[in-house]
Amino acid sequence: MASSSVPLLTVKNLQKHFPTGTRFPPWKPSAFVRAVDGISFNVLPGETLGVVGESGCGKSTMARLLIHLIEPDTGEVILDGYKIGARDGILVREMRSQVQMVFQDSYASLNPRIPIEESIAFGPMADGVPNKEAMERSIDLMSKVGLEPSMFLHRYPHELSGGQRQRVNIARALAMQPRVLLLDEAVSALDKSVEAQVLNLLADLKAEFDLTYIFISHDLNVVRYISDRVMVMYQGKILEQNDTEPLWAEPKHSYTRQLLEAIPLADPRLERARIAAASQ
Ligand SMILES: Nc1ncnc2c1ncn2[C@@H]1O[C@H](COP(=O)(O)OP(=O)(O)O)[C@@H](O)[C@H]1O
Ligand SMILES: [Mg+2]
Repeated sequence: MASSSVPLLTVKNLQKHFPTGTRFPPWKPSAFVRAVDGISFNVLPGETLGVVGESGCGKSTMARLLIHLIEPDTGEVILDGYKIGARDGILVREMRSQVQMVFQDSYASLNPRIPIEESIAFGPMADGVPNKEAMERSIDLMSKVGLEPSMFLHRYPHELSGGQRQRVNIARALAMQPRVLLLDEAVSALDKSVEAQVLNLLADLKAEFDLTYIFISHDLNVVRYISDRVMVMYQGKILEQNDTEPLWAEPKHSYTRQLLEAIPLADPRLERARIAAASQ
């Protein structure tokens, strides 16, 4: 986590405003949602960068902009010093193979008619990896994400639990041999115990495959647990960013303080201690 290392990803002044409603005539947008409103940040190789903020603050839009699923109004994304989509930069397609995304909805991301083995092998095959090699990669990844291949090979998404489906989605992302995983609320739909297992799996995979994570969640406890550094978003802007523990210890912005204080604590003894400390 050397803070001096050259950024893997650099985001410069990224902006996306969505039109809301039209005025007639001349049918021009009458208002805009400033979903992402001029944000700049770096992602260092090997770190886990957490992104927190209330629902609607622009986290998912930022993620989509990052991998060019949607086009920004302005701003740029730079990978290894090369601007994505620029004539002298790197192609969106090349970038996508290096930056893979895992979403919250584990079911929607999978084709219900395709068995797990093929689902994981699909991306590499579409990318020109020979079928046999892609299937081998799929089976290897199944065991790496904790799904015993002999049991899960031929199963379909509806035959899996939410946690198992999310493991498949992680394997699908890893099958593209990325350097960065962009995880957007990837564990948010899971039960607490399953969530903990998937978080541990993510930590193991990160070490094994030398990955960099951008971990987006509205759940501050989870972000604190997994992140080296955290970025706080508010209304399309980055309010502050800092290493995880300093951010919790000394939030610079009053909004961050409020956000952190709203954390529901799982352990009632901690909750009582916190209230006692606060009332002193
Ligand atoms: N495709 C879209 N069209 C119009 N508004 C959108 C679109 N996507 C997101 N928004 C709006 O942009 C804001 C940020 O949304 P989003 O990035 O999904 O936030 P988050 O992921 O933090 O919950 C919200 O107000 C949302 O309604
Ligand atoms: Mg979101």
